[in-house]
Amino acid sequence: MITERVDFLVIGSGVAGLRAAFEAAEAGSVYVITKDTLKESSTEYAQGGVAVALCDEDTIGIHFEDTIKAGDGLCAEEAVRVLVNEGPERIMELISWGAEFDKSNSRLIFTLEAAHSRRRILHAHGDSTGREIERVLIKKAMSIPRIKKYSFAYFLDLIVHDGRCYGAYMLRDGQVAAVLAGATILATGGVGQVFSRTTNPLVATGDGFAAAYRAGAELSGMEFVQFHPTSLYASGAPQFLISEALRGEGAVIRNIHKERFMGLYHPDGELATRDVVARAIVSEIFRTKSHHVYLDVTHLDKEYIKKRFPRIYKTCLSYDIDITAELIPVSPAAHYMMGGVKTDIDGRTNIEGLYAAGEVACTGVHGANRLASNSLLEGLVFGARAGKAAVRQPVDIQAIDPKNLCNDISETPLDNPDEIRSTIRRVMWEKAGIIRSAESLNEASEALNSLEYVTRRTYPSRYENEIKNILQTAQLIVKSATERKTSIGAHYRSD
Ligand code: SIN
Repeated sequence: MITERVDFLVIGSGVAGLRAAFEAAEAGSVYVITKDTLKESSTEYAQGGVAVALCDEDTIGIHFEDTIKAGDGLCAEEAVRVLVNEGPERIMELISWGAEFDKSNSRLIFTLEAAHSRRRILHAHGDSTGREIERVLIKKAMSIPRIKKYSFAYFLDLIVHDGRCYGAYMLRDGQVAAVLAGATILATGGVGQVFSRTTNPLVATGDGFAAAYRAGAELSGMEFVQFHPTSLYASGAPQFLISEALRGEGAVIRNIHKERFMGLYHPDGELATRDVVARAIVSEIFRTKSHHVYLDVTHLDKEYIKKRFPRIYKTCLSYDIDITAELIPVSPAAHYMMGGVKTDIDGRTNIEGLYAAGEVACTGVHGANRLASNSLLEGLVFGARAGKAAVRQPVDIQAIDPKNLCNDISETPLDNPDEIRSTIRRVMWEKAGIIRSAESLNEASEALNSLEYVTRRTYPSRYENEIKNILQTAQLIVKSATERKTSIGAHYRSD
């Protein structure tokens, strides 16, 4: 087997992975491996923006309180304090590297999103904030010779012996390679593809959660999947995210009869927390026997909408919906995993030498429900901290001698992979989605367990291994959801 050695291995090239890589590169050689192109991650698709207490009318303390309130009593306060305190510095640093957030007369513009008591969301090119952040991070990564980037390198599994992580196996050009590393930083992103409706890109298949679980890492809060209330619901169109920032700018939600209803569900109406809005929409869809509701921006200034939300405007238009004149059909979709690989505030996991940051990690910063636009900030803050922590515990990689490196890729392909993938995703959406019960979770568990054989092999293709990871992540979600008997935040049980 091909074996390579590197000081720091970063798995994932979104905001958390790249930010960690910059810190690690201060101390040694770094590999960043990613299963697609460098820029293909959830970061690239983040629209609304990045929340940070930099506006005159805002304070770090108010950002702290809003985050805690959204988290429904389950936030780890220490992690929230780190996020809001270090956020401004991470954003100013990003600006110094060339990030261009939208401005008016040279002053940064801050917008509002649900459950924020102040305007504190920075955005770029209207609704392409993640793309701008990723652009700047990739440009910086390209300028650091110590960081080697491997795209289309699929992360298979962690190399762990006697409670220590020594790197990871990757699949590249059809061959398995072992990358031995002094420290390994997991930044593989989310799980959206576990559900049949998701705003996430195709790469969000839960690889990091499943591989960490197989390696013996502790996971936490896997029942807390955030469902975004408004993704496009149009025939032939993807479940494209229709940003919450539209509601921050005055968009309203109407049922199939064109009636507003959010006021009946919560005093904050359209700006209630995401879990509340998503459930209200599901109830209204059920009550009106429809498949979607509408988001309405037709009362807002047309030119402003086109300028402020160019990506949403153009995408909807490509499906023949002119959002300035017509209602946008929307319905909820899986969006963000608040649980994950359990870490401390420096990204340390229970496995020595293994760190995690970003969506795959669970610092407890989001509690039971993430405050909108806190995730890009999370990636920057905790990515940097994980990189720094890895540097503080150097390991001489020449001394690493892991025994039993193995390359047991199955030669036999998976039978009916498309059918298996679709079955898991539909089961998860219907039985372990926005509204759950003991009965539905039990049915989900039985359906997933009948596919257990899929998890017993390592496959020769990315697609098949992704299905295995989708399945294992789904099982972890269902198990945690079953164990948490009461409703809290994004975890809602009808029983
Ligand atoms: C959005 O733009 O609505 C999504 C932002 C986020 O998930 O924080």
